[in-house]
Amino acid sequence: MDDQRHLVLIGMMGVGKSSVGRRLALRLGRQFLDTDKIVEEAAGMTVAEIFAAEGEAGFRQREAAAVREALESQPWAVIAFGGGAVLDPITRGLARQLALVVWLQAPARELARRVSASMRRSGGTARPLLTPGRSPEQVLDELAQRREEAYRSAAHVLVDTAGRSPGQAATAVLVATGWPTP
Ligand code: S3P
Repeated sequence: MDDQRHLVLIGMMGVGKSSVGRRLALRLGRQFLDTDKIVEEAAGMTVAEIFAAEGEAGFRQREAAAVREALESQPWAVIAFGGGAVLDPITRGLARQLALVVWLQAPARELARRVSASMRRSGGTARPLLTPGRSPEQVLDELAQRREEAYRSAAHVLVDTAGRSPGQAATAVLVATGWPTP
């Protein structure tokens, strides 16, 4: 296995890219990067504030720049992409070229449960794509179906996280990729 590249996690919001990514980075002795955090630091605004001020299009532009910055950085890192980052075909191409791309999967019901828990922790403002008045599970299910092709074409490896803790999912990623642990 060629580990001289970034390890990128993609997949729907709530699947655990950040919590799994942080554990992977610890185990691999790598830096952990999160494109949402890079966007927020560069903008001086939260993701929700950017959506409110600039719309989704403004956010996607900033996200594409953050992805490029993360992929072009050294040393090799574990990088969690925002859930919609690979909708951009240029991002998909760059990621496949510069990283091993792992698609974390979970059923919409589990995504909804995890997203609701994290929204309660952050005061309910962190997920601009979830429409008030609609069930998060339904919105996430529709989004996941619409995005399936983009995720599939970006990913080298698929890992099912259903029923797994972040630590167990991190182990499953290492097993599925054959990634060497130090
Ligand atoms: C989004 C996912 C979010 C964030 C933004 C849009 C998406 O990131 O980038 O709210 O389009 O799925 P996470 O996947 O880290 O929650």
